[in-house]
Amino acid sequence: MAVVLSVLGSWVSMNPISNILLLILVFFIPPHMALSLTFVKIPLPSGVTAAASIGFPTALPKDFYVSVQDGRILKYQAATSNFSDFATTGNRSKAVCDGQTSGDLEPRCGRPLSLEYNRAPNQLFIADAYYGILVAGTDGRLATQLASAVNGVPFRNIEQAVLNNDRTGSLLKYDMKTKQVTVLLRGLSGAAGDAVNANGDSILVSELIGGRIQRFWLEGPQIYTAETLIIFPGRPNKIRRTPGGDFFWVAVNIFKPDSQETVPTRIRINRDGNIMEKVSLENEYNTTRITGVVQFAGASYYVASRYTNFVGLYKYT
Ligand SMILES: *[C@@H]1O[C@H](CO)[C@@H](O)[C@H](O)[C@H]1NC(C)=O
Ligand SMILES: *[C@@H]1O[C@H](CO)[C@@H](O)[C@H](O)[C@H]1NC(C)=O
Ligand SMILES: *[C@@H]1O[C@H](CO)[C@@H](O)[C@H](O)[C@H]1NC(C)=O
Repeated sequence: MAVVLSVLGSWVSMNPISNILLLILVFFIPPHMALSLTFVKIPLPSGVTAAASIGFPTALPKDFYVSVQDGRILKYQAATSNFSDFATTGNRSKAVCDGQTSGDLEPRCGRPLSLEYNRAPNQLFIADAYYGILVAGTDGRLATQLASAVNGVPFRNIEQAVLNNDRTGSLLKYDMKTKQVTVLLRGLSGAAGDAVNANGDSILVSELIGGRIQRFWLEGPQIYTAETLIIFPGRPNKIRRTPGGDFFWVAVNIFKPDSQETVPTRIRINRDGNIMEKVSLENEYNTTRITGVVQFAGASYYVASRYTNFVGLYKYT
């Protein structure tokens, strides 16, 4: 099985084949037509900002992992409404790092940008801007580094280039059997997120600066080629497959006319990049930029933002 990830705002995607059975069993969509969607803020622990990425343990609905600015990966337990430390990517000191927002401390404290939970064999994968690809230990402490460089180039150099608005983002593949990292696609402008299609034949990749989503083929006649599927009038961030279907939620911050301000919007596209649904989150988020939208069991949407001290939850009541 391969893990595919992009660096910077990176988002790890598992090849979904092994999860299909679970998806069919768990993700039935209840008839919510008559119900209304209400918005709840799940506050992060005090002093913590920036929910960069949300990952779900699929066995326990409503519990989730979230990576935050100070370098921790927290676990949220819905039953007790409590966040607890789950994993770290760097060998960090809690006294120095917890609650910190200084860029200077990031290399030491870690900056986990992306999470992906794999039910079998029950692993949480992490993409960190400084520590590369890691897998969290079951004891929830320091994660184990799987890879930190590709062709001898450390991942963080790639990130630095992207921060300079360069077009040097890459889509990388980590092969769990051979433990090799390979570059699948180069020249990404602010590589932000990726998600593998339900049948594993291709992967959608979003570019924050480029404003677009490309499809990169992993199989078939167009293997190892990419095509642009959609260009947004804004900044698409993370992209996440919906439960059970071949659809994707993209967190897009859409530019207001003649303005640098953006409207946070969740946009559902199909595997060919056609827009199926577009919902403004302006009432709840105003112009605050969002990072990711994750749907669970057809009923709830969790929204991550690097600019809030809460995780947003839209749920049917
Ligand atoms: C909540 O999480 C904190 C750590 O973040 C822990 O110290 C505390 O015991 C937890 N409380 C409950 C009720 O689980
Ligand atoms: C973490 O840092 C401490 C103190 O700097 C050191 O003693 C320890 O060996 C380090 N652990 C790892 C796993 O690098
Ligand atoms: C929304 O944000 C804009 C600027 O980004 C601000 O001028 C306005 O007051 C905000 N509206 C609310 C309701 O907070």
